[in-house]
Amino acid sequence: MKLILLGAPGAGKGTVAKLLTEMDGSVQISTGDILRAAVKAGTELGKKAEAAMKAGELVSDDLIMGIMGERLKEDDCKAGFLLDGFPRTIPQADALKGLLENMGIKLDAVVNLVVPREEILNRLTTRRTCVDCGAIYNVRSNPPKEEGVCDKCGGDVVQRDDETEEAISKRLDVFNEQTAPLVEYYRNEGNLLDADSTNSSNVVDVIKKELGV
Ligand code: AP5
Repeated sequence: MKLILLGAPGAGKGTVAKLLTEMDGSVQISTGDILRAAVKAGTELGKKAEAAMKAGELVSDDLIMGIMGERLKEDDCKAGFLLDGFPRTIPQADALKGLLENMGIKLDAVVNLVVPREEILNRLTTRRTCVDCGAIYNVRSNPPKEEGVCDKCGGDVVQRDDETEEAISKRLDVFNEQTAPLVEYYRNEGNLLDADSTNSSNVVDVIKKELGV
């Protein structure tokens, strides 16, 4: 399947993407994960992105389109892709549209993950992530078996740099200002699918029903 997963920070984009990947082999492409790996490796991209990410601001559209223009051409995308955290601005959505048209690719749907703000704040302050494999945990709803240790790879499970109260609040403001308008953008394009994401398997069911898979 070829999907965009759209939703506020903490809406469950990464969690749903992992469930869908296990189901049909589509590849999860998370711009957040790509940027965090670049920061960790100390690459030029990482150096350019680090300050904005830590503050909860968006990285520039040019930088993101440079990454995604290349990423979508890779062979593993042929089996399907789940765009997690991209696009995030109208210019990114316009650029993606042109890119997909040039490649002759049609999206199956844009899934709008809807979660109440209070639940989002709760999730973001209690999320933990594996620094090695990116597995997502939650100290409240889905903790690792051993505190601080990844069940899947044994890596360290920690809180992300952008999970301070200040950065979370900034990320939610940035989402409302710059990313939320994409809901109407894709509704007007006729391929938006709203899904209640208080329960991640519900989102998977909504997608399966819509796409008939
Ligand atoms: P990114 O990594 O994309 O972060 P985000 O959009 O803020 O999303 P999150 O990863 O915080 O949340 P999620 O929706 O994936 O939720 P999750 O599944 O983890 O981006 C980080 C930064 O990179 C940005 O701020 C920006 O600087 C930069 N960036 C990235 N892309 C960019 C772009 N395109 N343009 C410009 N800049 C960009 O779930 C959250 C928690 O809730 C977890 O603990 C999980 O276990 C729990 N949870 C999930 N679902 C449920 C459920 N149903 N019930 C109970 N708990 C649940």
